[in-house]
Amino acid sequence: MPAINNDQPYKSVSFSETVITELMIPSYSNFGGKIHGGILLSLMDKVAYVCAAKHAGNYCVTASIDTVDFLQPVEVGELVSLMASVNYVGKTSLVVGIRVISENIKTNTVQHTNTSYFTMVAKDEENKPVMIPGLILQNRDQVRRFIEAKRRRQIKQSYKQEIDSITVPDEYELCQQMLAGERCQIAQ
Ligand SMILES: CC(C)(COP(=O)(O)OP(=O)(O)OC[C@H]1O[C@@H](n2cnc3c(N)ncnc32)[C@H](O)[C@@H]1OP(=O)(O)O)[C@@H](O)C(=O)NCCC(=O)NCCS
Repeated sequence: MPAINNDQPYKSVSFSETVITELMIPSYSNFGGKIHGGILLSLMDKVAYVCAAKHAGNYCVTASIDTVDFLQPVEVGELVSLMASVNYVGKTSLVVGIRVISENIKTNTVQHTNTSYFTMVAKDEENKPVMIPGLILQNRDQVRRFIEAKRRRQIKQSYKQEIDSITVPDEYELCQQMLAGERCQIAQ
């Protein structure tokens, strides 16, 4: 059982809220002139780390990232802002919710590019998961986010069990039946 840090057993959401704004420069773009998804993922990982480490008071690692759907392309020259806050805490892990927006400073337009949830785990000096402070929820949104994150965590656990239980039959004929209608061919 990880050790409890009794010095700061609870912290508010606002204590660790973090915003990073970055200018999208040409070297971040792909061949189509839009910003690489990987650049945005890297920025999301960075803001998640800052937010998580502030809450945990310890180093953190990224354990998992929920689905990231890119809703809008981001252009060179735009400002991308990533707003992160702790949505949920477990024992040694916490969930950071990140909202990403892009801003065109010439047209003064703001677009929501994506929202995602990063699960971060706090580690001690020996690289072992360590207990993190609890979370003080101060408004309805914070309560809603905590409950939603708890539910997502439960759904993810049952989804993982289902994925792990997928098996493929050894028999060639059965595989052929399962692939009927799919756009693939088994090479002879
Ligand atoms: C993630 C990691 C810390 C889990 O370590 P572990 O020894 O398996 O720890 P545990 O099973 O005790 O789990 C610790 C916590 O992490 C959570 N966790 C572990 N794997 C998880 C996953 N894939 N998704 C979400 N949460 C996860 C557990 O639910 C637990 O949370 P809780 O304490 O709040 O209940 C470990 O696998 C690790 O260090 N991975 C590499 C992380 C890394 O390097 N990230 C950068 C990638 S480039």
